Amino acid sequence: MQYVELANGQKIPALGLGTWKLNDGVAREAVYAALEIGYRHIDCAWIYENESDVGAALTAGINEGLCQRDDLFVTSKLWNDRHRAADVAPALKGTLADLQLDHLDLYLIHWPVAQQSGVPRPETAADFLTLDQAPLAETWQAMQQCVDAGLCRNIGISNFSAQKITSLIEETGITPACNQVESHPYLQQNELFEFCTAHRIAFTAYSPLGSGDRPDGMKQENEPALFADPVLQKIADSYSVTVAQVMLAWAVTRGSIAIPKSANRQRMADNFAAAALQLSDDDMTAIAALDRHHRYVDGTFWELPDGPYTVANLWDEEKPAVDHVDSGS
Ligand code: A2P
Repeated sequence: MQYVELANGQKIPALGLGTWKLNDGVAREAVYAALEIGYRHIDCAWIYENESDVGAALTAGINEGLCQRDDLFVTSKLWNDRHRAADVAPALKGTLADLQLDHLDLYLIHWPVAQQSGVPRPETAADFLTLDQAPLAETWQAMQQCVDAGLCRNIGISNFSAQKITSLIEETGITPACNQVESHPYLQQNELFEFCTAHRIAFTAYSPLGSGDRPDGMKQENEPALFADPVLQKIADSYSVTVAQVMLAWAVTRGSIAIPKSANRQRMADNFAAAALQLSDDDMTAIAALDRHHRYVDGTFWELPDGPYTVANLWDEEKPAVDHVDSGS
């Protein structure tokens, strides 16, 4: 397995298992299968509502000798309703209890979006806190205290723009170890990738396969179909591998970490093997040309009438995310 080195020298396996959407009791079996296959990096979050199942699988794997705790890199994420400084360590301790761990390897602020304490799913604008009411810098300092207390080894952020990361560093002097964002050949995020690289912030690609199993409410009409891309298919055919493997090999080759989700043992094994696939420079160039800034996880779900969050202020992009290619293609 290839690794990405964090700024402090700790290493994170470049390919991990994503656990978003491992629901309905399949998480335990899937995570255990992943450990058997060789995965040592597991990406979790409180909001996925499966951390107890993940914890049961990790404990079984450790107790049955599949791996040791120190071989594992376990990430989890602080949910939006726990941004208040006093809520951060208790939230992390709850996650640790569910995961049956005494520390995390990485704890992330899941979104730059704050909600009232104890309101995990906002329904009206009043359920949100603005970033003036719950400044990200205060949440971030409370995250750092969790490192100091030994509850987690590294802290990072997710879904943060370069602008928000810059403010966080300026206001606190603490550089995130990692930024986890959506990324795949149709959303390469080159500027953000380069910004992170320049600041020694590891870049983790979530939804590296386009997250086709998102809930219907998170889907748009006429979404571009990554798996049907002829360029990716041609490259896959040339190596006798799958399109999914090409997408993951592309991510790892460019220096990203990728966390594909699968509940299927064969696909998990295929995805894991992709880290070893060497793509040629020509393949990398051909894939680079596929970028169309298409977000499958577009953030519109944070836009509620009269609420403080919009797609524009979420991503700090001048124009809302749009597909630059004709939707008919
Ligand atoms: P499944 O869980 O049945 O394998 P993402 O990681 O971008 O969120 O994408 C997850 C989606 O991609 C799921 O629908 C998952 O289905 C599917 N998937 C995962 N690995 C592969 C693969 N190797 N080939 C095809 N589809 C895959």
